[in-house]
Amino acid sequence: MEENKTEAMHQWRKNLETQVSLSPYKNKTLVFGDGSLHPEIMLIGEAPGGDEEKQGRPFVGKAGKNLTEFLTAIDLKREDLYISNVVKLRPTKESPKTGKLVNRPPSKEEIAFFLPFLQEEIRLVNPKWIVTLGNVPLKAVTGANLSIGDCHGTLCQTSENLRLFPLYHPAAIIYNRSLKETYDSDLQKLKTLISTK
Ligand code: URA
Repeated sequence: MEENKTEAMHQWRKNLETQVSLSPYKNKTLVFGDGSLHPEIMLIGEAPGGDEEKQGRPFVGKAGKNLTEFLTAIDLKREDLYISNVVKLRPTKESPKTGKLVNRPPSKEEIAFFLPFLQEEIRLVNPKWIVTLGNVPLKAVTGANLSIGDCHGTLCQTSENLRLFPLYHPAAIIYNRSLKETYDSDLQKLKTLISTK
C-alpha cells in the first residue's frame, strides 16, 4: 500500500513535469508539495515565493516562520502534515521601481493549469483534513466562488466531500493586524476539531 502510494505520487510528479515542459511555464522551477503521505492535515497555500523557489520546498523562509507558528498552535509537527500549493511555480512580475522580479498573485491561467494536478494530489494524499490558506486555495478545492472572509474558521467540504477548514493566509495578517485575533481563534478551533474527530 505504502509502496503503491509512493509510486503513484512519483507518477503524478513525472506527469506534471512533462505537462509543464510542454507549456508556457517550461522555464520555471517547480516547487512540489512535501511531507507525510498519511497526514492528519494537508495544508494548501497559494503559490511558492522566492525562498521556496530557491530551496525547492513549500513554506520555507518567511512563510516557514508562519508555518511554525501554525504548527505550534495546533500541536503538530511539520512531519505530520503534507504541505503544498495550488500553483507549483513562483508567479513573478518585474518591479517598475527596481527592475527586479517580485512576487505577484497567481493568474487565472496559472490556477486553471495546475488545478487538475492539485485535485489528483489531494486524491492521492487522501488527508483526514484539508486546511486552505486564503482565497486562492479555498476557491480551488471547493470549486465555488467563496470568500475567506465568510468561510474562515468553519468546517466545510471540498468538491470531493473531504473535510475542509479554511484559514486566512498568514500574509493577510501581516498586512491587516486586526485579523490576528480572528486567525488565532480559528487555529484554536482547528486544534479542538482535530483532537476530537
Ligand atoms: N509560500 C508558499 O509556499 N505558499 C504560500 O502560499 C506562501 C508562501
